[in-house]
Amino acid sequence: MTPWFLSISLAYLLGSIPFGYVLVKTFRKQDIRATGSGNIGATNVARSGAKGLAIATLLLDLGKAFVAVKIAQHILPGNYDLAVLAAVAAILGHVFPVWLRFRGGKGVASALGVFLALTWPSALATLAVFVVIFLLTRYVSLASIIAAAAFPLFALHFVPLRTPIVIAGFLFIPLLIIVKHHQNIRRLLTGTENRFGSSKVSA
Ligand code: G3P
Repeated sequence: MTPWFLSISLAYLLGSIPFGYVLVKTFRKQDIRATGSGNIGATNVARSGAKGLAIATLLLDLGKAFVAVKIAQHILPGNYDLAVLAAVAAILGHVFPVWLRFRGGKGVASALGVFLALTWPSALATLAVFVVIFLLTRYVSLASIIAAAAFPLFALHFVPLRTPIVIAGFLFIPLLIIVKHHQNIRRLLTGTENRFGSSKVSA
């Protein structure tokens, strides 16, 4: 097994662990996909009323993706192309997990995990954009979309190594996140998106 195949497969498998689904199923005997927005991410877990599980989901989704990239960096140290491919694989695992018939989350917390592992200054700048938009609007989805769109600007500034794989990976992850928010975008445009903490829920 080549180091590339090993790193990328491990990253997909780690990314594919649907922590939000597993935690809510285990501790509340509910299917998170049947409540709120139907997403398996921390926002929807919080929306279901399970605040502690939401924090755990956020940290575990972030952590699994961070570890996936760190493993690739450990297997082939200094190979940034492989680290970026492992990041993409981890996000694909989260968004298209084999265990949930390829219907997973939107990749926001996991993206923060891979960004922290790949380029922490860009990750912190992206997180700052998220926090500002969230505090201004209380829309997690809008903050996620704008932060995702901002990431490539920070990453291409902070990461000196701009190979085709790095550029493609840095564009692909935000694009996938934005596409996965298509229902949120529709709700934002029609004024029916849920604000964080609001009791009104649109699926
Ligand atoms: O992390 C996903 C978030 O941006 C939106 O989640 O449940 O409101 O679709 P949700």
